[in-house]
Amino acid sequence: MSKQRDQWSSSLGFILAAAGSAVGLGNLWKFPYITWENHGGGFVLVYLVCIAVIGMPIMMAEILIGRRAQASPVPALEKMSKGLPGGKWWSVVGWMGVIAGLVILSFYAVVAGWSISSFINCINWSLNGFDGGQDFGGFVGNGPLQVGLAFVFSTVTAFIVMGGISGGIEKATKVLMPVLLGILVLLVLNSFTLDGASQALAFLFTPSAINSHGLLEALGHSFFTLSLGMGAMITYGSYMGRHDSIVKSSIAIVLLDTLIAIMACIIMFSILFTFPQVRDSMGKSTAGMLFVTLPQMFYTGMPAGKIFAPIFYVLVGFAALSSTISLLEVVVSLLVDKLEWTRIKSTSVAASTIFVFSTFCALSNGAVDFFSGLKPFGQATEGFLFKLNETFFANKAGFMNLFDHMASNWFLPVGGMLITLFVGWILPSRISAEELDLLDENGNPNKFFQVLLFSLRFLAPLAIGYIIMMVILGRDF
Ligand code: PHE
Ligand code: NA
Repeated sequence: MSKQRDQWSSSLGFILAAAGSAVGLGNLWKFPYITWENHGGGFVLVYLVCIAVIGMPIMMAEILIGRRAQASPVPALEKMSKGLPGGKWWSVVGWMGVIAGLVILSFYAVVAGWSISSFINCINWSLNGFDGGQDFGGFVGNGPLQVGLAFVFSTVTAFIVMGGISGGIEKATKVLMPVLLGILVLLVLNSFTLDGASQALAFLFTPSAINSHGLLEALGHSFFTLSLGMGAMITYGSYMGRHDSIVKSSIAIVLLDTLIAIMACIIMFSILFTFPQVRDSMGKSTAGMLFVTLPQMFYTGMPAGKIFAPIFYVLVGFAALSSTISLLEVVVSLLVDKLEWTRIKSTSVAASTIFVFSTFCALSNGAVDFFSGLKPFGQATEGFLFKLNETFFANKAGFMNLFDHMASNWFLPVGGMLITLFVGWILPSRISAEELDLLDENGNPNKFFQVLLFSLRFLAPLAIGYIIMMVILGRDF
């Protein structure tokens, strides 16, 4: 492996690529709908605390491992742990990450496919008039359509990853990220003109009760949304230039990601509080929120909405694409680094394997009863098996829900816990302080580094451990 590693062309290149990974369906699709399901304020507060206290330090930890080792997660952790307690065992984090990546991609591609369909609907509505919106339940119940859309999206992702990542992604995100941000700002401003806006803000920012499942979901989502706990940031860090600041980039990425997630909520909740009929068109679950709320505003509550509607869903698709690329890249770079397969072979094998699971996910929102009703420990309504479904899966049903829950709320926090323990306790602090450029004039770790280290050693692991304990004990806090 003596070949020169691909590198971002500038530090802005890294920030944009990492922000491209972070900003995606997590912000636009998932955060609004789980915030709605978890009753707003209290959930948002816990989420923000998780982002600041756990997410931010772990982001820095991951990027520093990647850049120091200049390798994908498994070899990176093998390299960094050489001669340290635990040794090669730490690379387990990398393997878990690859599994998490496979699992996440399989449902993510399905939701990303929904953006393609919304784009087509909007073109139609913009040209021929709005018919009140789509019946979302019927749409997700259409098996062949669901599989087809996921297939299109996965194929595009696979082709881009085959081509290597620095050229194309960097260029695309450089243009699309600012455009997405601009349109979101416009949409927020417009949503302030709706009657439901003040209710939306109150819902979002007035603390409300939260139970242990809500805690776990807020924690899990803070990992998911920042692309942490599975090695994506280790991988991207490995392409980062020696002279770029990990600390500054991480802060920028975290702020941008959080801003976009909050804006998405303001927009969608304002619509939900203004047009009650939209709530009914979401179908059984609120998972369709991103796709049913906005058309209502574009076509009945926004000047020039006709023009913005299709553009908006194209941007959703691209935001999703820059995230699926990073997910697939984790898997592919492992195959390339460890098995020394070519990029083309690695990508083809990984993408086709994932697509099999994507199919199950695509069929699990009403198309095929078996997949839609699936519960890991059966349909028990009481007793031990029920308890297991309740504890580990929040009693969710359906292949896609289960995959999402398992990856986001279990794999990622556990992966993140191992990373924070490794960097906090195992890796000599001198190395991390040096890599983060947090040394004072005398070459000792500075104050900021001490704060960071405190979080990596204590706050983050204890918070993750506490939440996991609460869930296992079945207690509300
Ligand atoms: N962070 C992405 C989002 O919010 C999802 C993601 C998770 C991407 C994990 C890469 C790794 O949409
Ligand atoms: Na995100």
